[in-house]
Amino acid sequence: MKRLLVLAAAATAMFANAQAQTFPGSRAVTFVVPFAAGGPTDRVARDLAEAMRKSMGGGANFVVENVNGAGGTIGATKVAKAAPDGHTLLLFHIGMAATPALYRKLQYKPLEDFEFLGMINEVPMTLIGKPQLPANNYRDFENYIRANAGKLNIAHAGLGSASHLCGLMWQSAVKASEAMTTIPFGGTAPAMNALVGGQVDLMCDQTTNTVGQIEAGRVKAFAVTTAKPLSGNKLLKDYPTLQEMGLKGFDLTIWHGLYAPKGTPPAVLTQLNNALKVALKDPDFIKKQEGLGAVVVNDKRVEPAAHKAFVAAEIAKIKPVVEAAGKFAD
Ligand code: MLT
Repeated sequence: MKRLLVLAAAATAMFANAQAQTFPGSRAVTFVVPFAAGGPTDRVARDLAEAMRKSMGGGANFVVENVNGAGGTIGATKVAKAAPDGHTLLLFHIGMAATPALYRKLQYKPLEDFEFLGMINEVPMTLIGKPQLPANNYRDFENYIRANAGKLNIAHAGLGSASHLCGLMWQSAVKASEAMTTIPFGGTAPAMNALVGGQVDLMCDQTTNTVGQIEAGRVKAFAVTTAKPLSGNKLLKDYPTLQEMGLKGFDLTIWHGLYAPKGTPPAVLTQLNNALKVALKDPDFIKKQEGLGAVVVNDKRVEPAAHKAFVAAEIAKIKPVVEAAGKFAD
C-alpha cells in the first residue's frame, strides 16, 4: 500500500511537471474580472493581458472574462472553485481584503483558497459629480451636500467594491452618512454612464475610470483620496486631497493583484509570476497606467509571499472598521 501511494504521488508530480512544461499551450489563460466591462478593473486586466501576451513570447493567449456582481465576490468565487491548472486567474482589487469582513457567508477564504501571483498596481480615487451638480470646487460641493441632506444619491459597484468603500469612508468622514441613498451597479462603468447622464448625483471612483471623463468635462471632479496631491499627473495635480479639505488622515488607494486557484502546480505559478514581473516592466503598460493616474508596483510585493503578506495585513486592517460600523452585506 505504501509503495502504491509513493507511485501515485510520483505520477501526480510527473503529470504536474508535464503540465507545467506544456503550459499554457494553445488553451487561453482567462483573467476573470469580477466587475463590468469597460470599468477600471477591466481596464487594468486588458492592459495586463496585452503585456503578459508579450512577456510570454506572443504564443500565449490571455483573454478577459467579466463575471460581476455582489461587490466582486461572484467572480472571485468562480476562480476559487475553478480547475487549478493556471488557465483561470482572478484579477481583483482591495475587495479581496474588504469582502471577507462584509460578507459573513463568503464562499471562499482569500488566504486559503487562492495562490498569490503578485501585485500589479495602485490607483488613487477621485470624488466626482454629475455635470449638472451646482458646485465647482470641494468646499461648495460639501456645502451643497449638507444643504441637500436626504435628497442626493451616491453610486457604487456593489457592497465591498472600491467605490462603495470610498463612499462609506467619505460619508463617515464628513458625517453625511444619513444624507445619501446608495445606488449599486455591476461596476463603475455602468455607474459612470448613469453619472454622465445625470441619473445619479455623485461617486467615488478610480482615476483609471475617471481621468477620461474629467478631461472631457463630462463629470465634475472635486478631490482626490490620496494622502499627497497627485502632482505627477497633469490633469489631477490641481485637485485637492481630502486631507487638505480637512478630512484628517483620509488616505485611500486601490491596489490590484493576480490570483490562481489553490493547488495550481508550482511550476505553472512560477511561469505566471515571471511573466507578470516582465509585464510590469513593460514601458507600454507602465505608460498606459501612469497616464491614468495609476502607479505600477515595482517592489517586493510582485513576489507571491510578499503579496500574500500585504493582503493579510489589509484584511486585518479593514475587518475591525467594518465590524465597528456593524454594516454587513449579508
Ligand atoms: C470596477 O472595475 O467597476 C471597479 O473596480 C468597481 C469598484 O470596485 O468600484
